[in-house]
Amino acid sequence: MAQKLSRRKLIGAVGAAVAIDVAANTVYAGPRQKPGKVRIIGIACSPRKGKTTAASLQVCLQAAAQVDRRIEVELIELAGMKIDGSLAAGLPPAPGQQDDFQKLVPKLSDPKVKGIIIGTPVYFANMTSLCKAFLDRCIAFRKNNFALSNKVAGVLAVGGARNGGQELTIQSVQAALLCQEMVIVGDAKPGARIGATVWNDGKGDVTRDEFGMTTARNLGSRVAETALQLAGLA
Ligand SMILES: Cc1cc2nc3c(=O)[nH]c(=O)nc-3n(C[C@H](O)[C@H](O)[C@H](O)COP(=O)(O)O)c2cc1C
Repeated sequence: MAQKLSRRKLIGAVGAAVAIDVAANTVYAGPRQKPGKVRIIGIACSPRKGKTTAASLQVCLQAAAQVDRRIEVELIELAGMKIDGSLAAGLPPAPGQQDDFQKLVPKLSDPKVKGIIIGTPVYFANMTSLCKAFLDRCIAFRKNNFALSNKVAGVLAVGGARNGGQELTIQSVQAALLCQEMVIVGDAKPGARIGATVWNDGKGDVTRDEFGMTTARNLGSRVAETALQLAGLA
């Protein structure tokens, strides 16, 4: 005769059985994730702190973080930093000259950093001078055994017009990143285009740009997925 089990005993019995089966590898216990951390850094290259480029990158990074719980994200804003592009040519800094680029070197070359997303406002259909100065100074990584090699890179551009040169700007940044042996990706499907193209409609709230926000989210997820794959964690 079947033995009558109380509800509590039944749950306990089922739990024990599942635990045994999981240990024996016979029950599906959800996707297995290899241990490890992948860091993705967003770099906002607007001279204006906390404005539309930073806000768009936040959306992008949030989407990256949602891909997998092993992904950690960080936003670095270059606004307020002193980055002298001419030092890339090997000139000595002027006496007493402050330069903040060196602070970024250990952060970006950290092997845990598997992805970097550059965000820049569009200035006359190209990147800002701050973005160019930063990219020129990245010659330091080339000289240091290509320390950015094989990190994934994505690019986001914010313009004051819907078609104000975002794609030209993205291409221009991508060209510099290719010189670092980085692995360039665009935004994920279904759009699957060159990167994140965001429109600041003049009111400063980019979250109203539905199309642009979709490209930002898809760029974040594409960078994250590729970074996991390259790290052997996918
Ligand atoms: C000097 C300058 C040039 C600009 N040129 C363009 C341009 O060519 N195309 C465009 O769409 N927006 C252009 N803009 C607008 C900015 O790209 C836009 O306001 C952007 O959202 C600024 O980013 P931020 O809010 O992060 O500073 C220009 C802005 C400035 C200050």
